[in-house]
Amino acid sequence: MDDVEAVKEKINIVDLISEYLPLKKAGVNFKAPCPFHNEKTPSFVVSPERQIWHCFGCQAGGDVFTFLMQKEGIDFKDALEMLATRAGIILQKRSDDKKDFKDRLFEVNLKAQEFFHYILTKHDLGKNALEYLKKRGVKNETIEEFGLGYAPNSWESLTRFLKKRNFTTVEIIESGLGVSSKSGCYDRFRGRITFPLFDGKGSLRGFSGRVLYPAEPKYINTPQTVIFDKSSFLYGLNLSKIEIRNKKEAVLVEGEMDVILSYQAGFKNIVASKGTALTFGQIELIKKYTENLSLGFDMDLAGDSACRRGIEMADAAGLNLKVVQLIDGKDAAEVALKDPLVLQKAIEEAVPIYDYYLTSVAKRYDTKKGADLKKIGEELIPVWAKISDDLIRERYIQRLSAFLKTEEKILREAIEKFRKMPESARLSPLKTRTQDNVVSLRSRRELLEEYLIALFLHPPTESNFIPNFPPETLFSAEKWRQIYVLLVLYLDSISFKSQAFNINEFVSGLPRELLSEVDRLYLVELDSRLAEEAHWKKELNGVISELKKALIKASLERLSLEIKNAQEFDKMEIVESLNKRFRDLSVKLKNL
Ligand code: UTP
Ligand code: MN
Repeated sequence: MDDVEAVKEKINIVDLISEYLPLKKAGVNFKAPCPFHNEKTPSFVVSPERQIWHCFGCQAGGDVFTFLMQKEGIDFKDALEMLATRAGIILQKRSDDKKDFKDRLFEVNLKAQEFFHYILTKHDLGKNALEYLKKRGVKNETIEEFGLGYAPNSWESLTRFLKKRNFTTVEIIESGLGVSSKSGCYDRFRGRITFPLFDGKGSLRGFSGRVLYPAEPKYINTPQTVIFDKSSFLYGLNLSKIEIRNKKEAVLVEGEMDVILSYQAGFKNIVASKGTALTFGQIELIKKYTENLSLGFDMDLAGDSACRRGIEMADAAGLNLKVVQLIDGKDAAEVALKDPLVLQKAIEEAVPIYDYYLTSVAKRYDTKKGADLKKIGEELIPVWAKISDDLIRERYIQRLSAFLKTEEKILREAIEKFRKMPESARLSPLKTRTQDNVVSLRSRRELLEEYLIALFLHPPTESNFIPNFPPETLFSAEKWRQIYVLLVLYLDSISFKSQAFNINEFVSGLPRELLSEVDRLYLVELDSRLAEEAHWKKELNGVISELKKALIKASLERLSLEIKNAQEFDKMEIVESLNKRFRDLSVKLKNL
């Protein structure tokens, strides 16, 4: 038994969390208001049976270690030490092992980089990817500079390659290059163009991968590992940091292709946040090189609460923010390729962030209408209250007063009132809004798939039902397919031994990535009537038939994209066969 297991065996999660929160019993579980976000009704659940916790409000969750790490703001090693002390266990591992292990992760990434880059530039398997990059205007020397590669569309070509070079399954999984499975692991990146993710110092911490043909997700990334944390990473910094210092300015764009094509067009002070709103870690990185940051996003900077939070933090950290306005929602990649002069002009004419906010409300509201005036106040007063520099805040109070034709005094009072409120009260409306967005972004299909898994995880006691639907007809996401297949195997084995469903027994052989998903769904509270077999079966059938319809609809959408793509590339033979599949599926949908 290793240290982690030994600690887990001794520490009871309910006891630990009770020291921080007022846990109340709710059925077999315990509940409390979540300590990690603001809420009134408790959605934080602790399961003594599974020794885990999960918050259905902010989606945080984990075991005793993650709870302590997040609550105390410490890393895994410290959490392990704290809990070991508490449990009276002497740790076996020393910290040098950890350092060697990190080195191995960097090494395995470099080996993978060699492989991906070779496939793209020298191997037949990379031909389509190379053609794709050419079509997007990426030159050979740019491919070399950024170290682009291609991960072949196979389950274990990289894993096999790495194993031959003496990397272990654990190293492959812990680097994020492999995903753990029953028989070891399989390649995470398959059929994707690969972008090595170098940090500012040039160490290779992970990869992202883009599909060649329209499919979801468009990009995947190395998950959080010992050496990679997406939220404090900036793409391109290894190449752009010198130019950022020289120009005394950084331009922040959304994604890999924005960086690559802008850099190729001569804009070399560029970095990307990889689709996320600015985070604290990224701000700290930028501050090492410059205080001037121009945002070249096509996102809704003023309206999106996550973006606003990023802007607030950047301001508080002392960055001077400007916004590069790209015409009608085009991204930097497109503009850099089509017309570098337009991009240059946009960067030169970037407007200070608070002017941008003013223009943004001016576009959306009419200051002559009372109701609009109120909305503008609600939107801008919290922002103005956050301007950290007194002189700048004063200047923008004057600007806002002129714009609204309202006395400065009234604005100043409203802003001061806001500045005196405690942080928690100020943030909560924004925070709730973000969460709502997160929820509504998940499609109905995703919710149905999750619900179906939750149903499967709560079979009525007397049930011995073993589903036999092909997983591809139910689940679009790989993780659900895997869980489903493993669940069917498990149900089969217990029915053979005529045993009852036992969640701990089921999850014992599960790979770590799937475990957290199963735990989350196991804690979902289902309608109590579903404990009856008849209700449960009826619900199951209803969900399954809806899912089948939704999946066919999604396939139809994807097909029509593929058809468009094939037409663009003039692949008429493919267009025809795709059209046929489209017709067949439409018929199938009608007959469901
Ligand atoms: P976009 O969806 O806007 O892609 O995501 P893009 O940059 O225009 O991509 P191209 O030009 O079609 O290739 C913006 C960025 O968000 C991250 C990626 O870094 C992407 O470049 N992203 C996006 C992810 O990490 N995962 C996703 O599923 C999608
Ligand atoms: Mn984009």
